[in-house]
Amino acid sequence: MANNNESIHGAWRNRWTFILAATGSAVGLGNIWKFPYITGEYGGGAFVLVYLMCIALVGIPVMMAEVAMGRRGRQSPINSMKALVSEAKAGPGWKLIGWMGALAGFLILSFYSVVAGWSLSYVLKLATGTFSEVDQALAGAEFEGLLGDPGTLMIWHTLFMILTVGVVIRGVNKGIESTISVLMPLLFVLLVVLIGYGASKGDIMSAVHFMFDADFSKLTKEAVLVALGHSFFTLSLGMGAIMAYGSYMPRNASISSTVFTVAGLDTLVALLAGLAIFPIVFANGLEPSAGPGLMFVTLPFTFGQMPGGQFFGALFFILVAFAAWSSAISLIEPATAWVVERFKISRAKACSIIGVIIWMLGIGSVLSFNDWSEFHLLPGKTIFDSFDFITANIMLPLGGLLIALFVGFGMKYHHAYNEMNMKNAGLFNLWYVVLRFLTPIAIAIVFINGLLPECSFDSELLNAETGECGNSTFLMPRFIGGVVLAIAYIAIIAMSLKKTSRGLSS
Ligand code: PFF
Repeated sequence: MANNNESIHGAWRNRWTFILAATGSAVGLGNIWKFPYITGEYGGGAFVLVYLMCIALVGIPVMMAEVAMGRRGRQSPINSMKALVSEAKAGPGWKLIGWMGALAGFLILSFYSVVAGWSLSYVLKLATGTFSEVDQALAGAEFEGLLGDPGTLMIWHTLFMILTVGVVIRGVNKGIESTISVLMPLLFVLLVVLIGYGASKGDIMSAVHFMFDADFSKLTKEAVLVALGHSFFTLSLGMGAIMAYGSYMPRNASISSTVFTVAGLDTLVALLAGLAIFPIVFANGLEPSAGPGLMFVTLPFTFGQMPGGQFFGALFFILVAFAAWSSAISLIEPATAWVVERFKISRAKACSIIGVIIWMLGIGSVLSFNDWSEFHLLPGKTIFDSFDFITANIMLPLGGLLIALFVGFGMKYHHAYNEMNMKNAGLFNLWYVVLRFLTPIAIAIVFINGLLPECSFDSELLNAETGECGNSTFLMPRFIGGVVLAIAYIAIIAMSLKKTSRGLSS
């Protein structure tokens, strides 16, 4: 095991640069685009509370495990997994974690870059006054117009991919570290400026009530599942991004306190983003439950109505683009590191090749809003929706589940103990127990429910005559898939428990 050496790719200068980079990965479209609108859709305060619990019970334990795996492996996630599996003499199946993670990175970045491209184009639109004095219908038409124009979408998608590759080819220190050290402080400043703007020109008290008054009657089962699923996406867990960053972490840094800081900052940004967005929405008497269009229709329209909205609106979309950029960097890094290790080629070549592959995959997402909107990869889902569904609902939760199980059951207890290097053995054991039992069960519930048809939550969607869910013809395979996964999960735990109880008693 190469765990005493530095990674060949470099190392963070200190613990704080790891914190900045991991926070850069975590803070992204998930915080600024998705969190406010799902909070809006699922009723506000009670949803926020459940989300915070998910971060604490699932997100933080898995993130600690992922960082520890990376730091012990000291290579790209794929090769770290190989090293960890042979050190633990565990079954080869665990290596799936590395491979699936790299694939998830490709898929996520391919559609993430398209959405990030929208925000780049909105910087320009806002700055040039496109939304000044337009009505809401026109704001909607503007967004529709963008989605319907593949050429323009391609330009922005290409630009965003060039920005991302441009950072990663320069390496861990000169590229990622130095870019993140500028981007992250700027991002916080922008956020504070926008909250100040919302507080002075918008209705901040309504926003505070909306986000923090917990009305549990609005809390549906689906909301709990969405909160748990989102805690993965927002912390960048389950696909190796955090593992890759962990492999560049100094040996003497404390994993637990570092991870608490990252998760805390990510959560803070999500809440602050809500406090920047909702006052502006409420000031204009609009509804926060506008779905994904909240950011690209409702907000631009509102900015267009407000004094200084042209300037602050442009700032808002710069903030979104920065957040997406720092996350995209972490999405491309694991595969880049692996190609460098495997083919012994320069980072510039490796990252450019991967960038081009992801860029090409992204063309599918671009076209799913226009020319290929009728083409469905999964039943009823365009390429864009399919990639989003497969990664967020399957690959990330499965990756997270396997990571929790691998550290909890596959890895040797004393290796996990040494790597975590926690002063307080009681706290270590608490984390270990949570990771072994509570976290996997919680993830498995989300995972299986994520695969179940929506009728499981909303019986009105169920067609009593045909037994079909909405217009889904995909009901049975998904249900069977869920059951098979549940059985596989129980089998893994049962087998590993036997092995570990032997290990603990020896
Ligand atoms: N955490 C990012 C966000 O909230 O937008 C998304 C993300 C980045 C997911 C990196 C996964 C990942 F590896």
